[in-house]
Amino acid sequence: MEDRFGHRISYLRVSVTDRCNERCVYCMPQELQEWLPRAEILRYEEIARLVRVATTLGVTKLRVTGGEPLTRSNVLELFRLLAEIPALRDLGVSTNGSLLPRIVDVAGRRMTMAAALRHYGVRTVNISLDTLDAAQYTAITGRDFLAQTLAGLDAARAAGFESIKLNCVLMRGRNEDQLPALIHYAGEHGYLLRFIELMPVSTTDVLTEENFLPIAEARRLIERSTGPLTARPDFKTNGPALYFQLPNSEQLIGFIGAMTDLHFCESCNKLRLTCEGKLRPCLGSYLEFDIREPLRAGASDEVLAQFFRDVVDRKPQQHDFRENYQPNRKMVAIGG
Ligand code: 5AD
Ligand code: SF4
Repeated sequence: MEDRFGHRISYLRVSVTDRCNERCVYCMPQELQEWLPRAEILRYEEIARLVRVATTLGVTKLRVTGGEPLTRSNVLELFRLLAEIPALRDLGVSTNGSLLPRIVDVAGRRMTMAAALRHYGVRTVNISLDTLDAAQYTAITGRDFLAQTLAGLDAARAAGFESIKLNCVLMRGRNEDQLPALIHYAGEHGYLLRFIELMPVSTTDVLTEENFLPIAEARRLIERSTGPLTARPDFKTNGPALYFQLPNSEQLIGFIGAMTDLHFCESCNKLRLTCEGKLRPCLGSYLEFDIREPLRAGASDEVLAQFFRDVVDRKPQQHDFRENYQPNRKMVAIGG
């Protein structure tokens, strides 16, 4: 599938729940939280069907997100279904990490949730980690889960994923003192750390100019303690991150400048499916299209495939975040 601007769409991000066991200040709206009713959420068979259709159109990479995907009951059943789709070459999960150490049962064997995901063919995990300071972690996420999340990272390492990435959302005055410590921690364990600019994807109090820390400034802060970073434009992952190498070290760190990087959208290869079955051609646009309706009305694979193509046709050239964008949907319901 290709859009009007030559973006080849090969990557689908699927949110499986709007619920989360954390309450990150940049994600959860401050208003009273109302979860979607169960009947509105796509069932695992429905998600797997849509994913299968998407693979016939050239989608080869899938990332399961939330909310927190691992809070959804019996979520391993979804991974079992996805493992049966051979065209999916690259399966990843985005998680806050807190549930990765949980012990689960897979065909009579007890293992960590991390090992179970690996067992079902998940190749990569992206784990949110904004700070290594316990009090700060609690202040940012609303939960006292730092130890649990670090245990989750250990479980992920033990499970042998092909790559483990850490995502750190940059917030002035909240975690800017943590950047060197996070780099050190990531380097020690072989995790690929990325710093992400705060995006206006949710109606929360932290989304103010004062809290915004641009990647260029984060980079200067980091260089004060590490020395000069070297750009590594040759190193690419499947997203918009720009990578740099630390001096006298093999370690790379990434910067995701959703707001300040004017080339951010140029290599976009993504489509998003929300947990209640809306296809979104872009994270930073109001456009969304309800594929649940035809799906539940008995549409054929061909009709669903055409629905995907039509959504891709409406994919904007770039996001609207710089146009004084007012979020109309909470991040937790879009899925990072
Ligand atoms: N701005 C930037 N990143 C965000 N995330 C969640 N909300 C925001 C936001 N407002 C990140 C989380 C997680 C990923 C799925 O999205 O840190 O790592
Ligand atoms: Fe939960 Fe992730 Fe949102 Fe934090 S950013 S509240 S962990 S979904």
